[in-house]
Amino acid sequence: MLQGALRQSLIPALIALLLATPALAGTTAAQRGKTFARANCARCHAIDRTSVSPLEIAPPLRTLHQRYPIETLGEALAEGIYTGHADMPAFELNPDQIHDLLSYLKTLE
Ligand code: HEC
Repeated sequence: MLQGALRQSLIPALIALLLATPALAGTTAAQRGKTFARANCARCHAIDRTSVSPLEIAPPLRTLHQRYPIETLGEALAEGIYTGHADMPAFELNPDQIHDLLSYLKTLE
C-alpha cells in the first residue's frame, strides 16, 4: 500500500524534475552569460535587445549573429578575438564562459 502510494507520487515528481532540469540549466547559462557580458563587454557594446552601444563603433552584441554564425563566434572567442581595433581589448574565454555567453547571445536573436 505504502509502496504503491510512494511510487505514485514519486514517479511524477521525478519526471517533472527531469523535464525541468534542461530548461533550468539553459536559463542559468544565459544568465551567467549576461552577467559576464555586463561585466566585460557592456562598457563598449550594447548587451541588451534595444540600447545603443556606449562606444559608438562597437556593434551591439545582439547584431553579432548577423555577422557571424554563433558557432563561429565560439571559435573566435576560444582563440581570442582580435578585432585589429585598438579600442577592443583581446579576450580569451574559457569553454564555460563561451557556453554562457553564447547562450545569452541566443536569447537576443
Ligand atoms: C573597450 C571597448 C570594448 C570592450 C570592453 C569590448 N569590445 Fe568588442 N568591440 C569593440 C569595438 C570598438 C569593436 C569594433 C571593432 C571593429 O569594427 O574593428 C568591437 C567588435 C567586437 C566584435 C566584432 C568583431 C568583428 O570583427 O566584427 C565582437 C564579436 C566583439 N566585439 C565581442 C566582444 C565581447 C564578447 C566583449 C566582452 C567579452 C567585448 N567585445 C568587449 C570594443 C569593445
